[in-house]
Amino acid sequence: MANMIKAPRGTQDVLGNESYQWQFIENIALETAKLYGFEEIRTPTFEDMALFKRSVGDTTDVVQKEMYQVQAEKGKELYGLRPEGTAGAVRAIIQNGLLNETLPLKICYLISCFRHERPQAGRYREFHQFGVEMFGSASPSADVEVICLAHHLFERMGLKEIQLYINSIGCPTCRAKYQKALKAYFEGYRERLCGTCLERLERNPMRILDCKSPECAEIAKDAPLMLHYLCEDCKQHFEGVQERLKAVGISYQINPKIVRGLDYYTKTVFEFVSNDLGAQSTVCGGGRYDGLVEQMGGASTPGLGFGIGLERLLLILKAQGIEIPKPAPCDLYLASIGEQAQIKACSLAEQLRQEGFRVECDLMNRSIKAQMKYANKIGANMSMVLGESELETGKANLKLMKTGEQHEIAFEQDLCRTIYDYNLNEVANALEHQFGDEQLANLFRNAKRED
Ligand code: HAM
Repeated sequence: MANMIKAPRGTQDVLGNESYQWQFIENIALETAKLYGFEEIRTPTFEDMALFKRSVGDTTDVVQKEMYQVQAEKGKELYGLRPEGTAGAVRAIIQNGLLNETLPLKICYLISCFRHERPQAGRYREFHQFGVEMFGSASPSADVEVICLAHHLFERMGLKEIQLYINSIGCPTCRAKYQKALKAYFEGYRERLCGTCLERLERNPMRILDCKSPECAEIAKDAPLMLHYLCEDCKQHFEGVQERLKAVGISYQINPKIVRGLDYYTKTVFEFVSNDLGAQSTVCGGGRYDGLVEQMGGASTPGLGFGIGLERLLLILKAQGIEIPKPAPCDLYLASIGEQAQIKACSLAEQLRQEGFRVECDLMNRSIKAQMKYANKIGANMSMVLGESELETGKANLKLMKTGEQHEIAFEQDLCRTIYDYNLNEVANALEHQFGDEQLANLFRNAKRED
């Protein structure tokens, strides 16, 4: 073990006993997105560095300090491991001409992202996002549809007490005035700002607002707020968003301090925050980016979206004690004694799997005692032992692992039917005990008898 190579800091292995939790949230995310008409896309893990510089912004922390850069060949151009999904999504839709089709265009993605940040609870160097992006609509209804999607998704997972904060960070017209005011404010603190922020002061003073250095954050506390500089169009849009949020019944608070750490945003920005996350409390961040498509070489097209951090989502589910349904256990363990029985078990298991049952058999040449121990360990519902005499008679004892009850059955003819009946019975019991629905439970029981 001393020489063992470990996983890089800030990364995590997801093992078999956890992957079902990922599958659960990923399925809910994709299913919820479908209700709103979003289709999944998949884009490369690495892209040209220039893509991230131009979209996320070369004065952001994400690009300046946190990018993983890869050089495939000496002297050749640099690639960046994606720190987020919007840049790649925008590149893909422009490159593939998707904006020429019917608008709005709605896409979503499940991706891994990479940021060289200091790892801590809820903050990793490789993390995963579920993101959605919508293109073509400038209406505040689009902002609210995207917010509704995130809200709906959290609701379907059973999450409680997730707060929505919204803000508007204006458009290039009103932003110019605001940047001027910010510059004047930060000029007064020149000697206390970090080196990166001194450069930002010249190029993009707004980025000082999300600098992680404690000194810069302290200075930023009293900086002017963008909300006070909105032009009439941006003000109206923000009011339109609020009116619609009220109409759909999603509660929100305005937080004028949200500026987001990425350069492409215009107008609405929003974050969903949970108190169950500690310092890294934002589980979802998003907003509008009406200038991005044009800036990336496409036709002028409004856009908006959000990204949800999946590790953070799982942390909240855990903290709130929300149980993720475990995958159904093995239906049948087919034990065998001797080579001929092992061959029979192997073929019978495959036949049953073709019928959709979860079946395992011995692959380790274990003793019968060890095989039964294994059947217990994997939580098999039933087991059956095949040996010489069972092969001769075609009959074997089927054991219900929960009760130890055994029935002799002709395994070639009746095994499939017996497992099916057992599963129906389990569903009926669950309906009766968990939901008190005796009528429905009996329907399941009778279905078994009639068929
Ligand atoms: P973001 O706010 O940078 O936005 O990231 C979205 C979410 O990803 C965060 O709210 C958080 O849950 C998760 N996240 C970010 N960094 C980390 C990390 N180091 N470790 C764990 N989780 C993390 C975006 O990425 C935008 N592309 C969202 C968007 C899409 N805006 C419009 N469309």
